[in-house]
Amino acid sequence: MPITLDYTNMMADAVGAAYGLRDEELTAMAGRTREIHAQIRQRRTAGELPFFELPKDPTVVAEMTALAQDIQKQFDTLVVLGIGGSALGTTAIFNALRYGHNLMDARQRGGLPRLFVLDNVDPDGFAAHLALCDPARTCFLVISKSGTTVETTSQFLVARQWVEACVGDRFRSHFILITDPQSGVLRELANREGYRSCAIPAGVGGRFSVFTPVGLLPLACVGVDIAALLKGAAEMARYVCHDDLMTNPAYLNAVLQYLAYRRGLSITVLMPYSDRLRYIADWFRQMWAESLGKQYATDGSLVHVGPTPVNALGTTDQHSQVQLYMEGPFDKVVTFLVVDEFDQELPLPDYQAAPQMAYLAGHNLAELISIEQQATATALVRNQRANCALHLPRVTAESVGALIYMLEVQTLFAGGLFDVNPLDQPGVEEGKLLTYALMGRQGYEAQARQLAAQKGDLNPRVLACR
Ligand code: PA5
Repeated sequence: MPITLDYTNMMADAVGAAYGLRDEELTAMAGRTREIHAQIRQRRTAGELPFFELPKDPTVVAEMTALAQDIQKQFDTLVVLGIGGSALGTTAIFNALRYGHNLMDARQRGGLPRLFVLDNVDPDGFAAHLALCDPARTCFLVISKSGTTVETTSQFLVARQWVEACVGDRFRSHFILITDPQSGVLRELANREGYRSCAIPAGVGGRFSVFTPVGLLPLACVGVDIAALLKGAAEMARYVCHDDLMTNPAYLNAVLQYLAYRRGLSITVLMPYSDRLRYIADWFRQMWAESLGKQYATDGSLVHVGPTPVNALGTTDQHSQVQLYMEGPFDKVVTFLVVDEFDQELPLPDYQAAPQMAYLAGHNLAELISIEQQATATALVRNQRANCALHLPRVTAESVGALIYMLEVQTLFAGGLFDVNPLDQPGVEEGKLLTYALMGRQGYEAQARQLAAQKGDLNPRVLACR
């Protein structure tokens, strides 16, 4: 099995009865697990959860590889324009599997393009990235499931004009639109204006879409072995698609987090001890927050439920957030992401002039980071703080694919435990609509008037340092 879940420190015999779980509590969840699993299976059979089947898509690897080779021939820089689920998975996997890629020169990169994932509309940040690119040699992947997200469409408008100013009428060949197969402005543009495009399979929502062209195309362009990524995900499917709680790591981890939440541990910290896995925590933060943070339960009752995901990085955050985790409120569960074998070890040499450092000689950095993770876990236990660890044997395309798939299934299943719809994000939609109103989009005049009235009713309290 590519991934191991160590939940020793979640249990009462490790951290005490107040915040630790008893075996009986876990076994008592077996029935609920079977119920939720049966619902998931039913929905899968009805074709309502197509993300499950993505790793077995028979054509996507060949299609994405062919398109990637075409992009590699023409361009030296690839820019993803997208946000949320259209960006975070790519960033996470790119960092894990092509760490430092953009810092290498073209020869070191094997002639592969650089990749920038721009997921914000900060004009300074956006302009600074454009300034690093040659418009004649840059390809943009415009990624939006809905095809209407204001950040992505605005980025597209700026980038399109920037490229046109350099290459004239040929600008269309610098853009590939990745969007819904039927609907949305980007799909209309692809059909009408002749842009190249890829379809995000119907029914696959943003944050569950990294194994579609959304993630696979940019990753293939920068040399990620996307076949191996999907193979790892497909292999993980064998372990997470059955209803035996105690042998299904996705279900078991969801249950552990859920029971901890019910004990008041409402903050889920994901803490990779690996620079390469750092952005997996960013990706997971969106998965967990958008999928589980909900106002209404599935029966429409008001619940305001959801664990708060936080990301941290080991060892860096041992000198930042860990003080709070050790001694602050009892409201967190820490999940470590542990790499069992690093690609490099980096031995620590002896240095006679510094006898105070002599204890380090003969060890290496791989050993140090691993020992620091164990030390942090043990210190948390001593402070009665629940924690667990997900171990990857190594950071490879297979293990990263497996991890992502496991966390997707874990999130979907957790939706069942929390009794919310994990596939929607009505709170995010509301913000999108209000932005349209404030930007003067046709059809949103009523919301604009409401907003103006709401603003007029408020008594401004502002302190300006002049
Ligand atoms: O998970 C989701 O559905 C969201 O985070 C979306 O990915 C995000 O809002 C961007 O939407 P879109 O892909 O439609 O531009």
